Amino acid sequence: MSSIIIIGAGLSGLSAAIRLAEKNIPSFLISAQPSERAQSVLAEGGINAALDTMGEGDTPAQHLADTLKGGVYLQDPEAAKRLADGAPDVVRWLWSLGVPFNTCDGGIMLRNFGGQKKKRTAFAKSSTGKMIMSALIDEVRKYESAGLVKRFSHHEFVRFITGGNECRGVRVLDSFTGQMTDFHGRVILCGGGMNGVFPEMTTGTSQNTGDITAVSFYQGVRLADPEMIQYHPTTVGICGKRCLVTEAARGEGGRLYILRDGEKWYFMEEKYPELKNLMPRDVVAREMFFVRRMPGCEGEVMLDLTGLSDDVWKNRLPDLRDELIRYLGTDPADTPFAVHEGIHYFMGGIDTDISHRTSMTGLYAAGECACQYHGANRLGGNSMLGAVFGGLTAADTAASENIISFPDPSPADQDDPFSIPAPDSFVYQLRDILLEALGIVRNETTLDAALEKLSALSPDSCRSRARLMLAKAMIISAKERRESRGAHYREDYPDTLETFRKTAVCTCADEDVQLEWRDIPDRREVQ
Ligand code: FUM
Repeated sequence: MSSIIIIGAGLSGLSAAIRLAEKNIPSFLISAQPSERAQSVLAEGGINAALDTMGEGDTPAQHLADTLKGGVYLQDPEAAKRLADGAPDVVRWLWSLGVPFNTCDGGIMLRNFGGQKKKRTAFAKSSTGKMIMSALIDEVRKYESAGLVKRFSHHEFVRFITGGNECRGVRVLDSFTGQMTDFHGRVILCGGGMNGVFPEMTTGTSQNTGDITAVSFYQGVRLADPEMIQYHPTTVGICGKRCLVTEAARGEGGRLYILRDGEKWYFMEEKYPELKNLMPRDVVAREMFFVRRMPGCEGEVMLDLTGLSDDVWKNRLPDLRDELIRYLGTDPADTPFAVHEGIHYFMGGIDTDISHRTSMTGLYAAGECACQYHGANRLGGNSMLGAVFGGLTAADTAASENIISFPDPSPADQDDPFSIPAPDSFVYQLRDILLEALGIVRNETTLDAALEKLSALSPDSCRSRARLMLAKAMIISAKERRESRGAHYREDYPDTLETFRKTAVCTCADEDVQLEWRDIPDRREVQ
């Protein structure tokens, strides 16, 4: 039986490898970084599941309703339903692997997270991602020793090996030796978000360069909703990065305010009496953007965590407190601090169907690189869930379609033009153009200006051209979506329009980007 190739060894890649191994299907687990350095270890706050251990009568149906509403109904409702229904089993599975979730009398303890009316987020203090990753890494080791998983860390995806519109493997570069190898077989992409498109402006690792998505697009794989970029409301700038201050800090009682006429104004509490500081991220980020510009308001938005109890600091957010003391030099238990919106998550990405197939035969995608589950705005805590659930689902699908026998890995041509990274100067040029146009508030004038600037660029390498096409897809989708929905706010089209409740599907052909709108299945089917 041919091995299935997994690109990326974070949450979705590890989950896929485990699921394949459970089915006795071998995999090659290929990643630019070892799992211990994957973006997933940075996830802090938790993972959602309607476990209802806090006596609130929570159900998967309510999880689904919050997920659809938070995503402003842009996701496939049946996919989101499977995610919400599958979530309790995912979290119980992780617990069975030894993830040290905080517990209470009812079992796994749950905390409040944004956009959700019930306590639904399971957590391991404030290092949930690290803890889940440790457990999955250990589980994969078991299958490695049985020969079912072969790891290739420090191996970079270069490009797909294709035959027409069929994926027949990947070309991979060993970052240490420079040796290029062709791996033949079905491929599951778990390459993470596109942080490297916005170097230094995201909470994620810019080791996730976005090149996997860019090259996939350039090689003919469709993208969906690439304009949907999430700004997390509470980040702080450190060492040229945005450091995440987990939403759990507000879930545990943190409050946002700004000085207005010299007084503290708790604007979220006044404007949104039901969910207050825990409105979905797009709403909070937008409010922060606007209050900073309101007459009478001065300075930055502040996060006040001084009301959190010792028990919360000790048992639920200890790592966050340590980090903030280290980076800000003040103790958040005593002193409010300024927070700012930072790029955090890409809801859009590689277009997948409900079973995680992409538009290229034999290629599947899961985790943040895939556009699935989250619509126009992801709920906090649904990211790790989507990554694990998506990895498992993609593995199930790839396993059921793993019917062709492929040759073993073979040495490849050393001179593949896709192996040369885009120069920093080009990456920063693109970043500046995109940042200008794809902020929290967008409009046609800046989007047109961005398109013009992109068209004037002349990239001189394959990866630069691929990045340029990805950038164009982001801008064209943002320009053509003449409405406001979730993370995409157009000041010139402030309303959410039913006519735009469609997926923006982008195709790259002949060095150009084509955009089509695809209907979303009727949400009544899952109510
Ligand atoms: O704020 C957070 O802890 C982030 C969680 C998430 O993006 O799911």
